[in-house]
Amino acid sequence: MPHSFGYRARTRHLFSQKFREHGPVKLSTYLKTYKVGDIVDIKANASIQKGMPHKYYHGRTGIVYNVTKTSVGIIINKRVGNRYMEKRVNVRIEHIKHSKCRDDFLRRVKENAQKKKDAKAAGQTIHLKRQPVQPREARHVSTKDNAPTTIYPIAYETLI
Ligand SMILES: *[C@@H]1O[C@H](CO)[C@@H](O)[C@H](O)[C@H]1NC(C)=O
Ligand SMILES: *[C@@H]1O[C@H](CO)[C@@H](O)[C@H](O)[C@H]1NC(C)=O
Repeated sequence: MPHSFGYRARTRHLFSQKFREHGPVKLSTYLKTYKVGDIVDIKANASIQKGMPHKYYHGRTGIVYNVTKTSVGIIINKRVGNRYMEKRVNVRIEHIKHSKCRDDFLRRVKENAQKKKDAKAAGQTIHLKRQPVQPREARHVSTKDNAPTTIYPIAYETLI
């Protein structure tokens, strides 16, 4: 057991730069626009030590509630015992990126709206509810050149 409990304790590998990802931060990082209400993923970048989130928030997703010159404020729901606490953390924008968690939903909303419009124009009704993957269709298997074999478990033997 390590006998240190500092702010960055046990982050030697968590915060280490990944293979071939060392070096200065790309300028495109600073050209992104963040707005209040955006959903962002927190991923600390160890190249920038200022405005880093606590290791607990590494890999978590939150909603932006405040935007400043270099940073954003993020609301995160942290599970503490039997409840969720609303935590507000301020991190620099090097440590966040836009989350993709809502993209698929928004895309589907748009698609469905279009589909509904098309169906209405064609005078049809459509069901847009998604179905889980169904069992495979029944089919025939030929036994020609494919004799059936009986499968049974092998008797237990002690392996030494
Ligand atoms: C930190 O920034 C560098 C340089 O832009 C980048 O290569 C690296 O992937 C970033 N690290 C993380 C954990 O995002
Ligand atoms: C946003 O952050 C700035 C700088 O920390 C602070 O002065 C301001 O009160 C914050 N705004 C909100 C809405 O929390």
